[in-house]
Amino acid sequence: MQTFDAIIKRKGIRSFNAKQISNEQEKKLIHAANAAPISGGGFRDSARQITFVQKPELLQQISKLAGDDGDPLYGAPTLIILSAPENSFHAEQIDIGLMAQSILLAATDLGLDTILITGIIAGLKADAKLLAALNLPQDYQPFVGIVIGYTDDTTVKTRAYRDDNVNYIR
Ligand SMILES: Cc1cc2nc3c(=O)[nH]c(=O)nc-3n(C[C@H](O)[C@H](O)[C@H](O)COP(=O)(O)O)c2cc1C
Repeated sequence: MQTFDAIIKRKGIRSFNAKQISNEQEKKLIHAANAAPISGGGFRDSARQITFVQKPELLQQISKLAGDDGDPLYGAPTLIILSAPENSFHAEQIDIGLMAQSILLAATDLGLDTILITGIIAGLKADAKLLAALNLPQDYQPFVGIVIGYTDDTTVKTRAYRDDNVNYIR
């Protein structure tokens, strides 16, 4: 797939079947994620962690964070959590956002379905047991989740958006 096609074709999916992503796909997603721009060149105090959650019991516990609002993981067999420590560039959220978009686009290229989620993050951070289960390096906090897998729902379209939020200073 051409890069521009992956950018345009990516869309958020909210219904997943049980089919798991492959180890080969995981490796490609990790490589794409780590290739994203990072503040400080990634070799001063900036850093990022990619956590693949695939343990059914843990996914179930995270799913319950939304209470009666339904399953925030939409039944997917993999949740990727992106975490970072605070860094001196105050750019950890930007670092994570760029990494997330690279994962979403690489996943689209690989024929995987995704949705970026942050709705679970506050609940995750407030639950010491769940947070510990993620086994993050010290002082890292989760910022973003990416739900990933395959959908059977063929009705979801890319959303309509306008390109009128532009001004030129020439
Ligand atoms: C920062 C951020 C947080 C989001 N959190 C959630 C979430 O918790 N749950 C969810 O279902 N979608 C979440 N989304 C997905 C958006 O709702 C979705 O991207 C938006 O509706 C546009 O649709 P599209 O992704 O298909 O273009 C989030 C998106 C962003 C950028």
